[in-house]
Amino acid sequence: MNNVTIIIGSARSDGNAAKLVERLRENLGEHAKVFDLSKLIIEQFEYERYDDRDDFRSVVAMMLQSQHIVFATPVYWYSMSATLKVFFDRLTDLLHDPIDRISGRSLAGRNVWLISTGTDEGLPPGFDVPFARTAAYFDMVWRQAFYARSIRGEPLSPGNLAEASKLASLITAEDA
Ligand SMILES: Cc1cc2nc3c(=O)[nH]c(=O)nc-3n(C[C@H](O)[C@H](O)[C@H](O)COP(=O)(O)O)c2cc1C
Repeated sequence: MNNVTIIIGSARSDGNAAKLVERLRENLGEHAKVFDLSKLIIEQFEYERYDDRDDFRSVVAMMLQSQHIVFATPVYWYSMSATLKVFFDRLTDLLHDPIDRISGRSLAGRNVWLISTGTDEGLPPGFDVPFARTAAYFDMVWRQAFYARSIRGEPLSPGNLAEASKLASLITAEDA
């Protein structure tokens, strides 16, 4: 099976987004590599600064070894988490630095998925747009968003965690 890079940005490493990621990893097995952005150092994007100063490039290196990239985030104020957004902003490095531009172009063709959690009934309209458009910008293939609803922010029920299993089965079926 092809590698899967899972990138999670949540304000807590044992919360609902983390539970979805854990379920995904269980279902995908050894081919899934998880990057918890809250445990890594990913500096804010800075204009004219594209040096290798933190963990950003190691995440990109794994993305380049993967056929599937899954972004996992809670809904915070109708958007992706700020932690994940910082990572998205840093993708700009892949457009400027001459060596990084090769990485940026090499992302083409990879599948991009989203798994999210919030307390509202469904994802806010347009929530998936930054994922779909960013994927398209890098010539990656936008696939699908999955959403697990938490009642009043409580831990996700087994029924809701099934969204992660659904996503894992789609990825697994594709690579079989
Ligand atoms: C700062 C903050 C903002 C939130 N904003 C929303 C929101 O706009 N829509 C929503 O459905 N849930 C919202 N929630 C609820 C969380 O998305 C939900 O509890 C989620 O399961 C938490 O995942 P986590 O444990 O990974 O942080 C918010 C929670 C927090 C802490």
